[in-house]
Amino acid sequence: RKRVRVHHLRELKERGEPWPMLTAYDTFTARIFDDAGIPVLLIGDSAANTVYGYDSTVPVTIDELLPLVRAVSRSTRRALVVADLPFGSYEVSTEQGMLSAIRLMKEGGAHAVKLEGGRRYAPLVEALVDAGTPVMGHLGFTPQSEHVLGGYRVQGRGVGADALVEDALALEAAGAFAVVLEMVPAETAKRVTAELRIPTVGIGAGPDCDAQVLVWQDMAGMNRGKAPRFVKRYADLAGVLGEAATQFGAEVRSGVFPGPEHVFH
Ligand code: KIV
Ligand code: NA
Repeated sequence: RKRVRVHHLRELKERGEPWPMLTAYDTFTARIFDDAGIPVLLIGDSAANTVYGYDSTVPVTIDELLPLVRAVSRSTRRALVVADLPFGSYEVSTEQGMLSAIRLMKEGGAHAVKLEGGRRYAPLVEALVDAGTPVMGHLGFTPQSEHVLGGYRVQGRGVGADALVEDALALEAAGAFAVVLEMVPAETAKRVTAELRIPTVGIGAGPDCDAQVLVWQDMAGMNRGKAPRFVKRYADLAGVLGEAATQFGAEVRSGVFPGPEHVFH
């Protein structure tokens, strides 16, 4: 099984074959998802929430993401590994964004980076691609801008749809290989998907995107909280793990564990 490359994703779009993408933040999950045939794994800045316990993605730093990027890229054989540029690591200038992306590639072993934002970042995207770093865009609801957007709200409704299409086209023209569309009306996402030659990756953006992404803890029911509408839970890992821990605790307290088969003499 050969490494997934950005041109493979474009070919899937041309053939009309939807593909899945998941986040991953450590070696076991990266290996499991790679073996399950997930072609793209993202070390999202959602690690802020899922790994580090922050209540937004704003505080997480590149130094906090880098060890997770290294763990995931060391643990996959086939998946294309994409790392998020976190808030504060690329907004200041093209130079700042390039230095940050280079760290994710060189120190982290990522194969590509993702950044939030539209036309404003076209020069950075172009410079990165020119310098050997594939870029995935991210439009619609962009969590790093939640304080400007006024919380978790659907983006790209009404006149916002035209702006979203313009941003997506600008990213494509700058050389981006794919664009995430987050919390966008299905009609708008369909329009963007039809206008772009590069794949769209939906999260809360309806069935017409070229690909679908979820945060793995949401997808597998590891996250106990109320899930957003766009999440489907494919397992109840929180339940399974909670039960395992409860049983371990009970068996230690009652002396059932360790049994004779777990003991050295
Ligand atoms: O950080 C993240 O997990 C993401 C995906 C939800 C697209 O950006
Ligand atoms: Na993200």
